[in-house]
Amino acid sequence: MKIKSIDSGSEVQVCDCLVISIDTAGKLGKTAQGVNDTQGGWLERAFARGDISGKRLDTHLVPSTMDGGPAAYLIVGLGDAKSMDEGAAYELGAVITRRLSDRARERVIVASKDFCTEDHFRAFVTGAWTGTAGQDLYQQKPKCYAPLELVFLDGNESLAASGTILGEAMNSTRRWVNEPANFLFPKAFAEQALALGKQYGFEVEVWDEERLANEKCEALLAVGRGSAHESVLVKLRYRGGDSNARPVALVGKGVTFDSGGLSIKPSPSMEDMKCDMAGAATVLGTIVAAARLGVKENIFGYCGLVENMVSADCFRLGDVLRTRSGKTIEILNTDAEGRVVLADVLNVALDDQPQCMIDLATLTGACLVALGTDVCGLFSNNAEFVDMVRMAAEIVGEPVWELPMFDFYADQIKSKVADIKNMGDGRWGGAITAAKFLQEFVGDTPWVHIDIAGPAFADSPKPFRDAGATAAMLRTLIRMLESRAAS
Ligand code: BES
Ligand code: MN
Ligand code: ZN
Repeated sequence: MKIKSIDSGSEVQVCDCLVISIDTAGKLGKTAQGVNDTQGGWLERAFARGDISGKRLDTHLVPSTMDGGPAAYLIVGLGDAKSMDEGAAYELGAVITRRLSDRARERVIVASKDFCTEDHFRAFVTGAWTGTAGQDLYQQKPKCYAPLELVFLDGNESLAASGTILGEAMNSTRRWVNEPANFLFPKAFAEQALALGKQYGFEVEVWDEERLANEKCEALLAVGRGSAHESVLVKLRYRGGDSNARPVALVGKGVTFDSGGLSIKPSPSMEDMKCDMAGAATVLGTIVAAARLGVKENIFGYCGLVENMVSADCFRLGDVLRTRSGKTIEILNTDAEGRVVLADVLNVALDDQPQCMIDLATLTGACLVALGTDVCGLFSNNAEFVDMVRMAAEIVGEPVWELPMFDFYADQIKSKVADIKNMGDGRWGGAITAAKFLQEFVGDTPWVHIDIAGPAFADSPKPFRDAGATAAMLRTLIRMLESRAAS
């Protein structure tokens, strides 16, 4: 898809579709009003009759009766114009290209000013990219088509360029997560990272199993031991800040497939477990976006990549693992593997003395029980830092909710044989006991854990996105990194 901006003053353009807006009150966008006024008032009449609504994300594709100019109009509901924000702009951008992805089109023109102000235009363009891609990676005949050319009337070109960077980073992230585990195994992820580091100018270091053993990452290695695929730790270093400024660390859970191990998952719960590396994919996608945007921060990424499988050599219940930090873990459930991997990865991140640290992980089903499928759980040891993440999420329109981290929750992960165990007592508060486990490995560093188990991978589609991977929290992370760099 090629993105272009043209001046709305220029002549009516021949195109496959002109995209215009209407709000819930029936108020037409400026371009929509022009179409209405030069064509006998049909849009106003259609609204009055109830044939088109202005409900947010409603779409009506109407073929034109006229020769020349647009072959069709896509009328998109804005919703309540007063409640427009960055999140709405993102979804509107996405619903447009997704609605038009059913077949190939050459040229689609979007009346940008019908939809958003300049403040939200970057998000609008980001959405326009994510609307073009879905989970149909291996269908002989594609399901999602992007227009060859997407033209924004009066679009700001530099914002369109940065929106494109974000949209492409989200689509890459989504693709990695949607890739099945037979294609995307730990080393395949590392290859992607190496290629992207070369392309966009950030350092990539890959620790293979030999190096991981030398580094005493026994916990990470134990989780991956049952797999035929070698485990790896991928370190990413993007330097956009002062050379002496301490980095922001982003840590990602990268379980390329989670069978549950010996505590094996029932088939229905295992179906989507190729998505269990979404944290790592989001870290990589965020660093690619930050590098391409030139965010003025040093941002280091740490992705722990393993496959959790069953074999004669896999880790067992009752095993005690010595983590890189020295803390020992008793394994009481091999399906609580993410926290075991992250124990070592968080410790590796601490080596670089980050100013602060965020980890992203599809960590617990319990987080879905607590918050539902669309809300990420936040867990932190630092009120100021979690506020910063929460504010960024609110601005971009990604729902998050902080859960408590009271000390007494930690009683639940005390072990009789080791320092801690990898399971709470029973399942109550499971998202929190998982977070308390992680907290054992972050020291005093300001830290936020984001449990993305719900939002990272969707069972069903929405008007503005396909089912499958979503790249949840990527926009939030970029917004947060940008606002840190600006302050
Ligand atoms: N990867 C899963 C969590 C998950 C569940 C992610 C649903 C995405 C959707 C994680 O490794 C897991 O299995 N967690 C267990 C922990 C339990 C055994 C303490 C869970 O949530 O059941
Ligand atoms: Mn698991
Ligand atoms: Zn898992």
